[in-house]
Amino acid sequence: MCGIVGIIGYHEVAPILVEALKRLEYRGYDSAGIATVHDGRLARRRSVGKLIQLSDLLVRDPVRGAIGIGHTRWATHGQPTHNNAHPHQTGRVAVVHNGIIENYRELRAEFETPDRPFVSETDTETIAHCCSHFLDSGLTPLEATRATLARLRGAFAVCFLFEGEDNLLIAARRGSPLAVGFGDGENFVGSDALALGPLTHQIAYLHEGDHAVLTRDSVEIFSEANAPVLRETVEIPPENLQIDKGLHRHFMAREIHDQPTVVANALNRYLSADRSCVAGFDGVDFSGCTRIVLVACGTAHYACHVAKYWFEQLAGLPVEIEVASEFRYREPPLTPDTAGIFVSQSGETADTLAALRYVCARGCRTCSVINVETSTIARESDVSLPILAGPEIGVASTKAFTCQLTVLAALAILAARQRGRLSAAGEAALCADLGSVPGLMSQTIALEPRITEIAKEVSKARDVLFLGRGSMYPIALEGALKLKEISYIHAEGYASGELKHGPIALIDEAVPVVILCPSGPLLDKSLSNMHEVLARDGRVLLISDAAGLAEGGRDVWKTLELPACSPFLTPLIYALPVQLLAYHCAIQKGTDVDQPRNLAKSVTVE
Ligand code: G6P
Repeated sequence: MCGIVGIIGYHEVAPILVEALKRLEYRGYDSAGIATVHDGRLARRRSVGKLIQLSDLLVRDPVRGAIGIGHTRWATHGQPTHNNAHPHQTGRVAVVHNGIIENYRELRAEFETPDRPFVSETDTETIAHCCSHFLDSGLTPLEATRATLARLRGAFAVCFLFEGEDNLLIAARRGSPLAVGFGDGENFVGSDALALGPLTHQIAYLHEGDHAVLTRDSVEIFSEANAPVLRETVEIPPENLQIDKGLHRHFMAREIHDQPTVVANALNRYLSADRSCVAGFDGVDFSGCTRIVLVACGTAHYACHVAKYWFEQLAGLPVEIEVASEFRYREPPLTPDTAGIFVSQSGETADTLAALRYVCARGCRTCSVINVETSTIARESDVSLPILAGPEIGVASTKAFTCQLTVLAALAILAARQRGRLSAAGEAALCADLGSVPGLMSQTIALEPRITEIAKEVSKARDVLFLGRGSMYPIALEGALKLKEISYIHAEGYASGELKHGPIALIDEAVPVVILCPSGPLLDKSLSNMHEVLARDGRVLLISDAAGLAEGGRDVWKTLELPACSPFLTPLIYALPVQLLAYHCAIQKGTDVDQPRNLAKSVTVE
């Protein structure tokens, strides 16, 4: 949700800021802007829409300076207009902000004066006004920043730039993430290390309440109490900072195709070398646990939904799955024998983080399943399990989802073993199954030409239904979400058995019904549900394996044959055709696949 960057160096900074913003654009793309200081004077350029608009503006109307701040916006307060675009400037200060200032109305009432009116509808402008007020009252930039921070309520990462100061940047975080990057005669701040990838690999993450004072040659970090503190500098491996589309047209396409590789990486980490047992789960112990709560948002929540089936069936553990935004305010009672598992690609989702803190505060053990290893959720949970998907840039999550599933599957096997529900032979068999996933995924991706053809038809629909039973139900939900997100076709996912309790009323010859139906114990029941659709002239796309299609593939609109696999693995494999279907429908519709309207990848506001 909004990306911010600050650079203090010795090169012309505008193109470097734009380059860094490009790497943050997945966080929001409603508007973008930069501010620089040159010869002591602040200059700003802002534009509505994607970053390309700002680049064009800078060609027509360049700015100079070797120090600057930049912002890419996901609108919260106020529409994506020029006036609402960051940086916001009042008097001698400009600021970029990620987060929400909750007391902005109160601050606005206090700091707005007839000779200094507010010009935007944003909460952020209050930060600039507040800081400007303190500067005018004679405080130094650092004192004014500290006085401002003390007045703000809410979640934020901010970076300040001051007129007359061409060797000073001040950045602060509370709630939203912020990284400081170290260079040689230049220093940086960014919403994440990815933004700073081409500039530096030496990163320190600000802790909650910290602020940092940057000059070209120094970085000082202070705690919320204004005491100097040392924060560990980490070297980020270059492969964690690489983002490119490879030979693909979109990041999403590359990320779909990357899945066999990244899932294999995750398996190498969480299976023993001989693939006989799960490994790499130091500090995870389910033996004294009586209940699990799995908490997440969006696609990660559907990964939890699949994991519920695995934990309950394999480990016999009761599992509750929770949408983080609901869980945290419901104040559910928790006993210390409950384990909290938090799943998040970014590790920064505000609601998931708040839910983690709620569970920690009740004395429960917590474990996170995250992609960004340095994220706040990773740091604040007792154990953090990286999913090793690599940077995911497409706003619609794909490879992170299947890597989350991979880690959760291995975790469920661990729980089953620790609770005495799985023999060594049983564990070895499940691990061997998991080991076959990358190969099965490759075979499934090879079906892309057929899926492209099907997408040409599906993309004409106004509404699409996805149906699944058992662990295919969450994949139906995920398939519908993917289609909605990137092609803007209305889609719903349902448990096949629920069809006759309402959604069957929607069925007619115009509504494609995608039925996820692998052969296995639930095949007959799922096929019965499919016949209920066919009896009402529904257009069924049946996705199954050879055995399933032999049973049910006659008389349907279209079929897609996936490789046969064990029922345990089906969520990992059936996730791929629904991703590819959504992708190719979006291509047909000509939508912006990697940056669909209104969405952002990292949701750091509630
Ligand atoms: C946003 C993204 C989704 C993601 C969700 C949760 O809505 O667009 O792709 O699943 O946030 O994000 P997280 O980083 O916590 O997995």
